[in-house]
Amino acid sequence: MVTKRKQQKKVVKTPILALKKAAVKKLAAAKTSVALDQWERDYLGRKGAIREVFQSLKELPEAKRKAVAQEANAVRTELVALFEKAQKKHGVGIAEKRALKTHTIDVTLPGVSTPVGHIHLVSRMIERVTDIFSSMGFDIVEGPDIESPYYNFDALNVPADHPSRDLWDTFWMQEAGEIGRAGRIANQNDSRRLLRTHTSPGQVRYMETHKPPFRMVVPGRTYRFENADRTHGFEFHQIEGMMVGPNISAANFKGILTVFFNTLFCDIQSAQGSKTNVTSEQIKVRLRPSFFPFTEPSFEVFMWFQGRWLEVMGAGMVHPEVYKHAGYSAGEIAKIQGFAFGGGIERLIMIKHQIPDMRLLYVGDLRVIRQFS
Ligand code: DAH
Repeated sequence: MVTKRKQQKKVVKTPILALKKAAVKKLAAAKTSVALDQWERDYLGRKGAIREVFQSLKELPEAKRKAVAQEANAVRTELVALFEKAQKKHGVGIAEKRALKTHTIDVTLPGVSTPVGHIHLVSRMIERVTDIFSSMGFDIVEGPDIESPYYNFDALNVPADHPSRDLWDTFWMQEAGEIGRAGRIANQNDSRRLLRTHTSPGQVRYMETHKPPFRMVVPGRTYRFENADRTHGFEFHQIEGMMVGPNISAANFKGILTVFFNTLFCDIQSAQGSKTNVTSEQIKVRLRPSFFPFTEPSFEVFMWFQGRWLEVMGAGMVHPEVYKHAGYSAGEIAKIQGFAFGGGIERLIMIKHQIPDMRLLYVGDLRVIRQFS
């Protein structure tokens, strides 16, 4: 390989006309575009012979410089013209070739598809449920996951040390903290904090800043200190709902829930309609007496779905004590009534997608997740 230094020396010594002669001769021999490329690089390129001549000018005595430069310029012009002719004859233009190499698109190749993810079934169900309630005029609000015992229990009429507290096995935080409106904390000494065991604290929080008439839902994450099994998790999701006004009744509740369930499960109903002929069969709602400290009367809510009754949530008519804790006056309470309900989001997902074990929703197994894209 010839080093630059040697080349330079050679060029300085080679008379330009000799250089031209050699170039013309070689160009005549270059009959393919590859050969032409090489020739262009050798003579006209950034490191080509002509360029070397120009670079070596400074080494010449002043007097000679101008004449050599003119000569070199003339030779270059001539060589460029010859090269272009040769290119037309034998090869594809350099620029054209580069463009072909880099910009060609083979439209017949299969496309590269980007895998598209999707939101989790739980998020999707929350979106769907809140959309339906929103379409019926319900506000959508949220509350904190870390609650005070006041909002989680006392304000909901669950007395301290009452056995009903055991319905909600609780995770307690190690550190105390300040949550809520001090003036109304019934149990002011209790600065402990817990992970909310249900979304019901949202009732009192909402009513502290809103007066009836209103309708609202509170979706969110909830926690219980219990062993996980097919139908229970220590961490799960609920949707709480509430509608209060001068004359809101349990009949209104039943009506709204019937619309809600029929909307939520309408696609399953119609998809299976052709097979089992239940298309025309509406989902029905049934209430059975139950007990919750924050409602009176209280209900267990069942829906008639694909030929059986499924228990889906707890509900009832809001207990006056709850209004009181939210700061409503006796006069205000006398003029209102309303219903509240709360149910598990996972339960709705399991029903909708026929998932037998709610833990499947959380193990992150792609074989499960991809079935619902
Ligand atoms: N918070 C209850 C639970 O988690 C469910 C519930 C029952 C909510 C009755 C309500 C209600 O709003 O009125 O078990």
